[in-house]
Amino acid sequence: MNRICEVLDIEVPIIEGGLAYVGNGLLAAAVSNGGGFGQIGSAGRTPENFEDEILIACEATKNPFGVNIPISQHTDFTPYLERIKKHKDKIKAVSLGAGNPKELIPFIKENGLKALVLTSTAFHSAKAENLGADIIICEGYEAGGSNGPSELTTFTLVPQVKRVVSIPVVAAGGIVDGRSMAAAMILGADGIQMGTRFVATKECEAHDHFKAAILEAKDDSTTIMTRMLKGPLRVLKNEYAKQVQVTEKNHPTLEHILPMVRGTYNKLSMFDGDIQGGFMSCGQVASLINDLGSAETVVQQISNEARQLFRTSDTLGF
Ligand SMILES: Cc1cc2nc3c(=O)[nH]c(=O)nc-3n(C[C@H](O)[C@H](O)[C@H](O)COP(=O)(O)O)c2cc1C
Repeated sequence: MNRICEVLDIEVPIIEGGLAYVGNGLLAAAVSNGGGFGQIGSAGRTPENFEDEILIACEATKNPFGVNIPISQHTDFTPYLERIKKHKDKIKAVSLGAGNPKELIPFIKENGLKALVLTSTAFHSAKAENLGADIIICEGYEAGGSNGPSELTTFTLVPQVKRVVSIPVVAAGGIVDGRSMAAAMILGADGIQMGTRFVATKECEAHDHFKAAILEAKDDSTTIMTRMLKGPLRVLKNEYAKQVQVTEKNHPTLEHILPMVRGTYNKLSMFDGDIQGGFMSCGQVASLINDLGSAETVVQQISNEARQLFRTSDTLGF
């Protein structure tokens, strides 16, 4: 049996990454109903709203799902942990990113949950395994949102992470269909995580303007902001991203940049639909997305396509 499916008690090793502002309960439930593993994001949500979305997901699926805590995005994550503890019988796993997971892994394990840790280097993956992580999610530079400062791509990262850990490894960044899923698994991943693909689904609560921008994207429609000051952030190119980049060049201090990359500007574009007034996290795969299907169908199609490709692996032609 697939090791990710075993740990998370799911049918196919496809995980929905935590999605700040737009990772809602109905989306998580749809991914889990498709046999994958949906997650409710906590970034951009009040603790109360986070709890509401957990309850919505419970109503909408009987299958396991998880929640995401991007550590440095919260000034105080205690109220979110309280909600996780309160609903620990409904949640299967907590994924941790954007910070040191050392403090939180014991909390997750004490509550009988699985700890998924996002990494972007082999070094940090080995460290996370030593701290007690159950699954490593290694994310390459192609990915939407915050990227690791080493800027390793998924293609190079996965085999290097596999070499240093013995727990299951999930590949994230640049995966969008059965071909990329199969490729990640040939590189050694036990499963995959997607973010951008799941934003472009009917259950995701992202604004229609943001979803339309993903459908219209070309191969070079994303760019990196805040590389030097805050770490790389992959977003769709727009007027706002350009302004941030110009400010970074002319006034390279946190004092100038931090106010421009506050969550309110992320919400303004991704949730409220003002697609020039703020910034939109988005991966390099956007141009490969052509429809706003149901997340449940997306999971089924991608897993079926990957299975089919493995069955017909004699198509190499040499
Ligand atoms: C709109 C958006 C918001 C994201 N927010 C978060 C987040 O809050 N926490 C997190 O761990 N990752 C976040 N990510 C990263 C995803 O969970 C996932 O790892 C990444 O999107 C995978 O790469 P892909 O976009 O090529 O599929 C976000 C990605 C996107 C596109």
